[in-house]
Formats: sequence, structure tokens, C-alpha cells
Amino acid sequence: MKALVINCSPVRNGATAEIVSIVSKELSDKYDVKSICIDDYDFSFCKGCRSCHTTAKCVMDDDVPVIMNEFDAADVIVSVSPSYWADIPGQYKAFIDRCTPWCNTHEPHATISSGKRGYAIALRTGPSMPECERIIQSIEHFYGHLEIEAAGHMGLCQVEYKENVEPRKQEIIDFCGGI
Ligand SMILES: Cc1cc2nc3c(=O)[nH]c(=O)nc-3n(C[C@H](O)[C@H](O)[C@H](O)COP(=O)(O)O)c2cc1C
Repeated sequence: MKALVINCSPVRNGATAEIVSIVSKELSDKYDVKSICIDDYDFSFCKGCRSCHTTAKCVMDDDVPVIMNEFDAADVIVSVSPSYWADIPGQYKAFIDRCTPWCNTHEPHATISSGKRGYAIALRTGPSMPECERIIQSIEHFYGHLEIEAAGHMGLCQVEYKENVEPRKQEIIDFCGGI
């Protein structure tokens, strides 16, 4: 079984990356784990042309299919996302917009293999959980339209830098136990 753990932040060595590292290590007993950072890839913004509604393909040729191949190969997907202005970072939102060829609201649409489980971990600096829940909702909405089962989530408030992750490590490990 394969797991894909995604750093949805453009920061490769911050708090999100630290959580990705803990999750990847915890899952490695059970899964063949691959971790990626959204900033490892080059892709343009969706232009909203809707060509994909009739062709199931994007008119642009860049790294989005490369990321989707990683999704296709995985049995379990864990998206780890910080709050940027109370939402997912623009880079991850831009990627989701570009997944419209795979969105199940139009026919034909592209598909990835079925039976996947998706998890979401949201983190933020502020103290209240509703902002994490909003991020989780964005990720689970995306999973839903790709027919990835939303199988679990967690929110971590009061995390800004990677040093703030260490005291929360056991919570993250406990969450990974259910994946
Ligand atoms: C551009 C930007 C916007 C942010 N907006 C929020 C916010 O609206 N609410 C919040 O609680 N934290 C906010 N934060 C803090 C991040 O969620 C927090 O520092 C997180 O740990 C960042 O992880 P990263 O360094 O791995 O990207 C913001 C950080 C950045 C860089």
C-alpha cells in the first residue's frame, strides 16, 4: 500500500514540512510513503476556459498531470496545509483549480483509480479551531469531487514555526495511528 503526504505550503522547512516529516515517518511502518511539496512543481493558474468539460483534458501542458500521477499511485493521501489568510495557500488552491479535468461534476472527466482514502491536517498560528475546519473543508471538498473518501482530519492551532510542532508530536502520532 502506498501513501502520498503533501506539503501544501510553499515553505520546505517550516512547520508544515515538520508535520509532513512526522507523518511520513509514522506511516512508513505500514505504507510505502512518498512526500512531496506543492512548490516542487511548476504549473499555471486555471484560466476557466472549461475546455476540460468537453475534452477531460487541460489545454495547458505542465506539472499538474505529474502530481496527479502521484495521486493515482497512492492508496492513501494526506494533505498537510497551513492557514494562509484563513484558507489553504494559494499554491494548493491553484493546483486544485487545475484539477477540474478530474472533477466528477462534468462528463467526460478524467479519473484516478478508485478506493483511495484522503486525510487532511490543518495548522495555524491563531488559537481557534473553526479556521482549521475551513481549511479541512476545502481539502475534503476537493477529495469528494475526485471520489477520494474523506477518512479523517485534524486541526492544530497555535503552531507558527517548526519548533512549535515538537510539543504536538504525540497528537500527530496518535492521528497517524488511525490511518
Ligand atoms: C502568508 C501567510 C498568511 C497566514 N495567515 C494566517 C491566518 O490567516 N491565520 C493563522 O492562524 N495563521 C496564519 N499564518 C500562519 C501560518 O498558518 C503558520 O505560521 C503555519 O505554521 C505556517 O506553516 P509553513 O511555514 O509551513 O507555511 C499565515 C502565514 C503566512 C506566511
